[in-house]
Amino acid sequence: MSREFDFDPLDDPAFRADPHPILDRRRRECPVLRHAGRVFPVVSLFRYRDVKRVLLDHETFSMGQRPEEVARGQTGDRGVEVSFIDPPEHTRIRSAYVNALLPGAILDQRPFLVDQAALLVHKALERETIDLRRDVATPFAVAGIARLLGLPLEDAEIFTRWGRETSRNDGAVLWLHKLEPERDARVARLMEEVEDYFSRWADGMGNARELGWFGALVRTAEGGEAPISRKEALAVGAAIVLAGFDTVSALICNTVRCLIENPESDRAVRADPAERLPAAITESLRYRAPFTHGDRCVTRPVAIGSEKLEPGDTVISWFASANRDEDVFERPDVFDIDRSQRRFLAFGSGVHQCPGMSFARLEVQIALEHLLQRTRSIEPAGEDWLSPSEAPMIDAPEAVRVRLRAA
Ligand code: HEM
Repeated sequence: MSREFDFDPLDDPAFRADPHPILDRRRRECPVLRHAGRVFPVVSLFRYRDVKRVLLDHETFSMGQRPEEVARGQTGDRGVEVSFIDPPEHTRIRSAYVNALLPGAILDQRPFLVDQAALLVHKALERETIDLRRDVATPFAVAGIARLLGLPLEDAEIFTRWGRETSRNDGAVLWLHKLEPERDARVARLMEEVEDYFSRWADGMGNARELGWFGALVRTAEGGEAPISRKEALAVGAAIVLAGFDTVSALICNTVRCLIENPESDRAVRADPAERLPAAITESLRYRAPFTHGDRCVTRPVAIGSEKLEPGDTVISWFASANRDEDVFERPDVFDIDRSQRRFLAFGSGVHQCPGMSFARLEVQIALEHLLQRTRSIEPAGEDWLSPSEAPMIDAPEAVRVRLRAA
């Protein structure tokens, strides 16, 4: 049974182009799937209720125990972590930064984001065709995250390279049929570079008051006045850079894709962007979750459906599939901006739920407002206008070749 339903997010071009046909069939016919022949024992969950259960039970399904480390019997120092840890450590670190990302706290980023969106869309309109991902969505999201943290905008290219490299490797180890030490070494080198960058930035950052909340967090941590150490504070910055722009860039592109593929929704949003654009972004998050899945390590024997899970097993929670579960959503395969059921899991749930979701929505709202206001239409540039994703955890085209028709 497992072998028949097995699939490969790492190497299957069809999955990379559109994971949904594959995920939908698994959810309907084999909702709990033990993958065959992987280096580590991996079980995929596709139903909304199973995914939600895993996300809410952090004691049975740990983020802190990394499956690959448990399987290798690896223990000891693996650097400072912000997300790949469990409560109470996770709560201590998260509570030191999460308030800075609340809706009221991020509003002063608005003018900068508006300027960036205006500039990038203006430049895009000067060209006959563009790659929306490369030319607008990614530079916009990178600038947004740099500004949020008070990092130099001139370093945008460095952050973009980090994001590309991490996205291509994130979650890859779980799908391997044999270990790839070279890949591990590349990731380790990149993490050293990131740590080194933040450490040098903090050494030279000057007056924290001018640098905003992140600089202030680092300074108070250095002074021993924060509940976290300097290293942990810097790891917060690294986690935000690495988690916070490829996903936003993906959501911008996915929403444009959804509007192009659903002309009636496009017309409705263009006619009343203030009212309909937020609904379109919400529906895009449900319909095409940019971050398709998260993994956890089982800490004690537990059954899900007919599958018995053992400590050390990895469970993969497919947010992208849960968001199309027919037990929860009516006509789940329809992109419907008037949908009232909005319990989607694109930002996860439970203690690790995305702390950047308000910032992500603010950014995407601003970018799309500009794109829609400045264009009459956005049209595919040729039949091969979408290139498959190159990141195993991200559902978004690597390139989105479009023509912008100026308003
Ligand atoms: C559309 C954009 C985004 C999507 C779809 C998204 C999705 C997610 C999801 C699903 C998780 C939880 C993963 C899990 O439970 O396994 C997560 C965690 C996280 N996200 Fe986001 N994210 C987005 C944007 C952002 C932004 C803009 C930031 C920063 C400003 C951010 C920072 C983080 C951090 C730090 C975590 C780890 C939280 C923790 O473990 O406590 N994300 N994100």
